[in-house]
Amino acid sequence: MKNKKRILSGVQPTGELHLGNWLGAIRNWVTLQEQYETFLCVVDLHAITAEHNPKELTQNTLSTAALYIACGIDPNICSIFVQSHIPAHSELCWILNCMTPINWMERMIQFKEKSIQQGNNVSIGLFNYPILMAADILLYDADYVPVGEDQKQHLELARDIAQQRINAKFSKEKDILKIPQPIIMKSGSKIMSLIDGSRKMSKSDPNEGSRINLLDTPEIISKKIKRAKSDSYIGLEFNNPERPESRNLLMIYSILSGKEISQCEKEFSETGWGTFKKLITEQLIESLSPIQEKYKVLINDPHQLNNILIEGKEKADNLAKKTLKRVKSKLGFFEMGK
Ligand code: TRP
Repeated sequence: MKNKKRILSGVQPTGELHLGNWLGAIRNWVTLQEQYETFLCVVDLHAITAEHNPKELTQNTLSTAALYIACGIDPNICSIFVQSHIPAHSELCWILNCMTPINWMERMIQFKEKSIQQGNNVSIGLFNYPILMAADILLYDADYVPVGEDQKQHLELARDIAQQRINAKFSKEKDILKIPQPIIMKSGSKIMSLIDGSRKMSKSDPNEGSRINLLDTPEIISKKIKRAKSDSYIGLEFNNPERPESRNLLMIYSILSGKEISQCEKEFSETGWGTFKKLITEQLIESLSPIQEKYKVLINDPHQLNNILIEGKEKADNLAKKTLKRVKSKLGFFEMGK
């Protein structure tokens, strides 16, 4: 156990988790959890960077944790915890805020995209989002951070802050913060919207039809796939740049069925959209049903879920406190005698 490298990752409890969260993130954690010491955070402080509803935040925090487990995360070997339960996240975030040049932040692509979506209502928190994420990662001395392609830039930022703004400036000998590396999974790291194959499947898309939620009923799945964007070609293809929707649905089908992309391409080379949509609908229902069953059991046992989160919090808190103390001491914050 001691020699295992550590990973940390998280998903925001905004809205319901969808297929992109599962295939692009959680599924990868499941394959990594045996090999790595795994910390998984429900990043509720990130969830308030867009307008939020308090009741929904509470519910979504619990359901996100339950879905981690329903998707195959084993709470006996992983630490699952809620970000806001560990005050060190906010505290390190403040310190890193003060160490980070504004012009580094102005390059963040996701901020630009999200701030366009949010119009006049963009908060400083949204701008700072990547710094809070850096704090999440750096607090746990994470060796690796499994993330989707779109989070690569945020991870780069965390590395630059740790290396250039903390380690290089405040310690001549031993590094204060560990420099994390990304793990970007090859397939599925970017699942696209059902109604626009050039955009990522996202919780913040106002159109529900753009995504399959993990808790969608068979009827809803079927309706969403029926309405999903298709094109006028016959046969499904993966590498035709003019057919992003075909690529996306083939990728989803391939991951869920466990068949190679090339095999799927062969199988569906002459299949029309109508038939393919029926098949992918059946596959989705079949793949999501065990997750939904496990979820139901968990969410109806709040006591057990609570215990899992308490245990996760204790392990996380221990580590986070140590890192924060190290940083504060190196930066010169006065420590009171006992
Ligand atoms: N920003 C990440 C996302 O949207 C979520 C996140 C927050 C995260 N803190 C993290 C991911 C720390 C990995 C590690 O997907």
